[in-house]
Amino acid sequence: MSSARQLLRRKPISELLVEGGSPYALKRALGAGDLIMLGIGAVIGAGIFGAIGTAAAGQYDAAGHLVRSGAGPALVLSFLLLGVACALAGLCYAELAAMIPQAGSAYAYTYATLGELVAWIIGWDLILEYAVGNVAVAISWGDYFTSLLGSFHVHLPAWLVTGYRTALLSPDAGVHGLLQTAPHVLGVPILVNLPAFVIVALITWLLMLGVRESATANNIMVTIKLLVLGLFIVAGLTHLSAANYHPFAPNGFRGVHQGAAIVFFAYIGFDAISTAAEETKNPQRNLPIGILGGLAICTVIYMIVGAVLTGMVPYSELGVADPLAKALNSAGFTTVGWIVALGAIVSMSAVLLVFQYGQPRIFFAMGRDGLLPPWAARVHQRTRVPYITTLITGIFVGLWSLIGDAGETYNLTNIGTLFAFVLVCVGVLVLRHTDRDRPRPFRVPLVWVVSLTGAALCVFVMVGLPGETWWRFAIWLAIGLALYVFYGFRHSRLHAPTGLRQ
Ligand code: ALA
Repeated sequence: MSSARQLLRRKPISELLVEGGSPYALKRALGAGDLIMLGIGAVIGAGIFGAIGTAAAGQYDAAGHLVRSGAGPALVLSFLLLGVACALAGLCYAELAAMIPQAGSAYAYTYATLGELVAWIIGWDLILEYAVGNVAVAISWGDYFTSLLGSFHVHLPAWLVTGYRTALLSPDAGVHGLLQTAPHVLGVPILVNLPAFVIVALITWLLMLGVRESATANNIMVTIKLLVLGLFIVAGLTHLSAANYHPFAPNGFRGVHQGAAIVFFAYIGFDAISTAAEETKNPQRNLPIGILGGLAICTVIYMIVGAVLTGMVPYSELGVADPLAKALNSAGFTTVGWIVALGAIVSMSAVLLVFQYGQPRIFFAMGRDGLLPPWAARVHQRTRVPYITTLITGIFVGLWSLIGDAGETYNLTNIGTLFAFVLVCVGVLVLRHTDRDRPRPFRVPLVWVVSLTGAALCVFVMVGLPGETWWRFAIWLAIGLALYVFYGFRHSRLHAPTGLRQ
């Protein structure tokens, strides 16, 4: 096979489907309800409890210069824009996930549609969405946890709850000063976010127990997060001020657009449940219900929370780490504020769970295809969990969140995820032409309009991200490409068909 043809080699869908009976198969235990809960578990988290404030107020750099304009009360329009973009991409995900019910999500679909090179790129890109996204969530979890401890008058030393990158980048003189005042070992300041590391370790341990146990834990956490957001809405509705809605869109459409690029993080996750395709009962019916149902519920909740939040407090005061708690506190609801902060911690634990669950399954799928070493595709004999990749993901995310900065990782996660959405939208269209006759348990209606508009809207949101993010993204992709050239290209199972099959 010539090299160019190898790059474009596609994995036959029939081959994707027969793998169900192999020793590398996972256990089917999840129904539609579990999937909706998994979706909500992945979606509602650091975005709605944290990034929402920055999206409303705008983003500033360490020197106080404006980086991105805020949407103001028009944040509801940002949510609406994102809801539409994600729904279109979600429809495309649903068609592919029902047709190719495989662990590996966008990676597996791309392998069947756009060929091996693009599939590798998307698999590599998804690390940004899953693992790097979880770094941001874990750090945000640590911050909420630390401030909650503070309300009980328990104060951990600052150098144990502040990551090195956060201290380095912070415009706050006190936080930045930690670089000097923290204990030093061999001249290096010890600055770690210990709570972030511990929660990642706990979640990894939970996932090693097996998928059923993890889904039950997720259902409990999702119930709590819905109750807490409901409490916020009810309390906030009693404290709205019409004056806060004027001006409605202080930065015009530019603010709505750039606000959307920031708060897109809040939507990430509805696609993650497609990684559970191989563990889903009757995936043809349950996957579309799970993906679109979860997305619709979250969009409605976000729009209501956005409208209530910007009605409670002037939007310019919302650029803080815990905007919901701040709004409640300034309205005098201190106890509710405390409960909502606790709810934020639970919500983010659920997000961490779903992404720590999804990432190993993408590595697993890539290992099974030979693009990663064979040990990545090993599942535990009793629990049927891909335990090696679960552990590696835990170590990667845990160590990065120990020293990383949340803000730095948000944008990178957003651009990587939007890029995956674009490829999935295009992939649906390609497959409609290259594999017309394959049964499609779920078909995207008006496929040309939906897939092209979906891809265009996602690119539009990407354009709202800073130039620096685009550079970092390009570097990330270049590293991935180098790895493919030196490993995946030669070891691909399509290259050596006898590889993993037993
Ligand atoms: N959507 C997820 C969150 O907001 C990633 O935490």
